[in-house]
Amino acid sequence: MYFKIKEPASKEEFKRYYHLRWKLLRAPWNQAEGSEVDDIEDQCFHIMAVDDKNEVIGIARLQFNSTTEAQVRYMAVTESYERQGIGRELIKAVERRAKESSHEYIVLDAREPAVGFYQKLGYTVIEKSYLLFDEIQHYRMTKNL
Ligand SMILES: CC(C)(COP(=O)(O)OP(=O)(O)OC[C@H]1O[C@@H](n2cnc3c(N)ncnc32)[C@H](O)[C@@H]1OP(=O)(O)O)[C@@H](O)C(=O)NCCC(=O)NCCS
Repeated sequence: MYFKIKEPASKEEFKRYYHLRWKLLRAPWNQAEGSEVDDIEDQCFHIMAVDDKNEVIGIARLQFNSTTEAQVRYMAVTESYERQGIGRELIKAVERRAKESSHEYIVLDAREPAVGFYQKLGYTVIEKSYLLFDEIQHYRMTKNL
């Protein structure tokens, strides 16, 4: 299966990138379109996967919490493309980016069903974190780079 990892660049690409974020991570919980965007997007690193038709099929964001700590948020892969290595490549890209700016470790809050995915990629659970939309339990995980 063909896919390519790239940074969204044009306004149009960002629009499609945010749309997938909303569709996969917000719409299933009846959250309005627009609620997927926060106020630090312009300070973050954005990465996406596209298919052979240039459709966005995977997304992730890296934010910089301090000079040493970076955080992965808003990561998801279109359901029909799961388990084909896209998530792994998105994580590789954010880790590469975090290392480039000498960040020492990554933290993230994984949804319960995704904990096994991050463990495969070397992340360990530190603690149970928050409950999103009253039902999605998250676990704080970390990895030293
Ligand atoms: C979690 C998610 C991002 C993983 O992406 P993906 O493209 O399916 O993952 P990959 O195919 O790159 O998987 C990499 C490895 O992790 C494993 N893996 C993937 N999902 C897994 C899961 N839920 N539990 C355990 N292992 C998993 C894969 O089998 C693969 O291992 P292998 O190389 O030994 O075969 C994706 O399933 C998803 O978007 N889920 C719904 C939204 C979500 O939960 N997002 C994360 C919010 S924190």
